[in-house]
Amino acid sequence: MTGQVEKSFEFGRNWKRFVKSYLTDERLAAARQHLSQMLVLETLEGRTFLDIGCGSGIHSLAAYELGAERTVSFDVDHESVEATKMLRATVEHPTHWDVRTGSILDDAFVANLGSFDIVYAWGCLHHTGAMWTALKHAAGLVKAGGQFYIAIYNHDEGAKGSHYWAQRKAGTSIMDA
Ligand SMILES: C[S@@+](CC[C@H](N)C(=O)[O-])C[C@H]1O[C@@H](n2cnc3c(N)ncnc32)[C@H](O)[C@@H]1O
Repeated sequence: MTGQVEKSFEFGRNWKRFVKSYLTDERLAAARQHLSQMLVLETLEGRTFLDIGCGSGIHSLAAYELGAERTVSFDVDHESVEATKMLRATVEHPTHWDVRTGSILDDAFVANLGSFDIVYAWGCLHHTGAMWTALKHAAGLVKAGGQFYIAIYNHDEGAKGSHYWAQRKAGTSIMDA
């Protein structure tokens, strides 16, 4: 992120509420199953896992529980980082699970991450304001022969629609308009 002003929708408060009130064993089991199925791996033993834009941290916890050799989770939003740290605390702060504050757009931060067997970025890269840079940085973190698992949303055809979300995430609520 060289001279770039970053603005991101603040997800963190929602994530903390999710972790405190809505994270159940069933949801965690579903997250483990989701990761395992999509990566086509029964276990993450012997593999390193990077969670970009970790949000609540649920997929990092799932990766940890699937036996990842090392997990690094980061998010640009400090409340999301706190939510993930709350989850890490539930499994007694394992030293091979590292939770950081940082941006996928920040060149220096990204350069210090190293490379990973699995780079996971679910629903994050298009929220950065510079999706193609974010994609390039994220792809560069995958080890040779590793797996790159991303989810990018396209148009929202739901009740509110993409126009609503574009304004909402730019910080202006169209409900006030
Ligand atoms: C829709 S949430 C997805 C959270 C999580 N990956 C999940 O699947 O539940 C998007 C996340 O990306 C984070 N984010 C946005 N811009 C970011 C950036 N430049 N670098 C890292 N994380 C970012 C947000 O703070 C938010 O927690």
